[in-house]
Amino acid sequence: MQANYNEIIPNNVDLGDDRRLLRALERWQPAYLRWWHEMGPAESNDFQVYLRTAISVDSDGWAHFGHVRMPDYRWGIFLARPEADRTIGFGDHRGAPVWTEIPGEYRGELRRLIVTQGDTEPASVEQQRRLGATPPSLYDLRNLYQVNVEEGRHLWAMVYLLHAHFGRDGREEAEALLERHAGDPDRPRILQAFNERTDDWLSFFMFTYFQDRDGKFQLAALSESGFDPLSRTCRFMLTEEAHHMFVGETGLMRIVQRTCELVREHDTLDVRAAGGVPLPMIQKWINFHYSICLDLFGSERSTNAANYFAMGLKGRYQESKRDDDHTLADEQIEIPKVTADGIDTQVIAARAGMNLLLRRDFTLDSQRGLDRFNKIIKAHDIDFELTLPDEKFNRAIGIFAAIHASPAGALVDSERWEREKDAWLPTADDRAFVRSLMIPVTDPGKVAGWIAPPKRGIHGKPFDYDYVRFH
Ligand SMILES: [Fe+2]
Ligand SMILES: [Fe+2]
Repeated sequence: MQANYNEIIPNNVDLGDDRRLLRALERWQPAYLRWWHEMGPAESNDFQVYLRTAISVDSDGWAHFGHVRMPDYRWGIFLARPEADRTIGFGDHRGAPVWTEIPGEYRGELRRLIVTQGDTEPASVEQQRRLGATPPSLYDLRNLYQVNVEEGRHLWAMVYLLHAHFGRDGREEAEALLERHAGDPDRPRILQAFNERTDDWLSFFMFTYFQDRDGKFQLAALSESGFDPLSRTCRFMLTEEAHHMFVGETGLMRIVQRTCELVREHDTLDVRAAGGVPLPMIQKWINFHYSICLDLFGSERSTNAANYFAMGLKGRYQESKRDDDHTLADEQIEIPKVTADGIDTQVIAARAGMNLLLRRDFTLDSQRGLDRFNKIIKAHDIDFELTLPDEKFNRAIGIFAAIHASPAGALVDSERWEREKDAWLPTADDRAFVRSLMIPVTDPGKVAGWIAPPKRGIHGKPFDYDYVRFH
C-alpha cells in the first residue's frame, strides 16, 4: 500500500505536489527508520514519551505535545516562511535577489556545507544512544529523547535539501548520512567531536551545552545564506536548537547546584564520597568539551571559509545586524601565529578569517552560562571559579594543533603536557567515577543524588509527571 507521505511527514513544503521528491523520500524513509532502530536510543522503541512535535512554523503553537512511541514520531519538514524580496546580505553578490534554486557554479560548495551540517545530526543521536539506561530522572530521560528526535528531524531537514535540490548525488549523500556512524573506525562521522563517546550524563549536559551551541552558530551562519531554502531551513532549526542548549545549561546548573550543597553540607570540595561531582572534575569536563568544540569551527585561516563568504553561502553570526559593508573585500584581521619564540600575530584577509570570527562569537556565548554557574558557586560561599580553557588548550585543528598549552594558555613542552594532562582533562578514573554515579532513577518525581531537581517541569506539567511510560 502506498503511504500518504503528505500525512505521515508534517510539512509546509507542499510535499504532496512534488512526485519526484516524494519518490526520493519514500525510498529514504525506510532506511532512516532502520537506522533509528539500530543506531537510535537503545531499547526505547516501546516507550511512550511526552514529546513535542513540530507541526508548523508559526510562533504561536508551532509544536504539539503528547505521549508517542519514538519510532512513530512524525519527523517533519519545515522551512521558515519566505521573506518577501529578500536579497543576499553579504559577499560578492550582496544586494542581488536570493537564490531559490542552487546556483550551478556553487553546487559543490553548497553540497559540502549541507552534508557537513547534516552529518552532525544523526551522529549526536548515535553518540547518546546508551544514555537511556541511566537517567537521573524521568524528566531528564524525556529531554534526552526530545533532543534525539529533534536531531533526527534536523537530519530530515538536510536530507530534504539534498533530495529537493541535488538530484542523484543528493540522493547518494542522503544515503551516506545513514551509513557513516559516530566512532566507526571504517566509516566515521565527518567531524571528530561527533565521534567521541557520550556515555555519562555529565557528558550529555556538556554536549548539549557546547556541541549544540556550535550547532547554533553554524546554523545561524547558514541561516544568512543567499541560497534561500537553506536559510529558511536553518532558521526553523534554530528554534529547536534553543531547547537543546536549555537542556545543557540547566542540566549543568543543576549539577553545580547539587555539588555546592554537598560541599557546604560536608565541608569539603571533594564531594565524591558524598556522591557528588567535585567542581574540579566539572572543570575537566568543560576543558574537554569546549576544546574539541573549538576544533569544530575549522582552521583560523581558511580558503573554503573565505569562498563561502564571498559566494554568499555562509555569513557571519547575525550578519544583518553588523555595522559594516558586509563584503569585507579589502578588510584585514589579526589572527594568532605560532613562532619559535611563542605566540605572535599575523594579518590576513578578513574573509579568510571567517571561522575564527564565528568561533569568537561562540566563546562569548559559552562564557555567559559559565557566569551563571559561578554565581551559584559564589552564593554558596565557595572559593572556586569555572572557566573556559584558553583557545590554545588541547587543540587538534588549526594554528594551535602544533603546540601544547595549559588551560590558562601557557605554552608547555610535550614532556610537561604528558605529565600534567591528567590534571586538566578527564582521566579513565574520573570517567569511571562519574559512570559509577549513573544509577538510573525512573520513579516520577525522584532525582539522582548528584543533580538538583529542575525548577519546573515541561510544558506546564509538574516535575513528578510521568514523562516516559515504559510499556
Ligand atoms: Fe541539530
Ligand atoms: Fe541540537
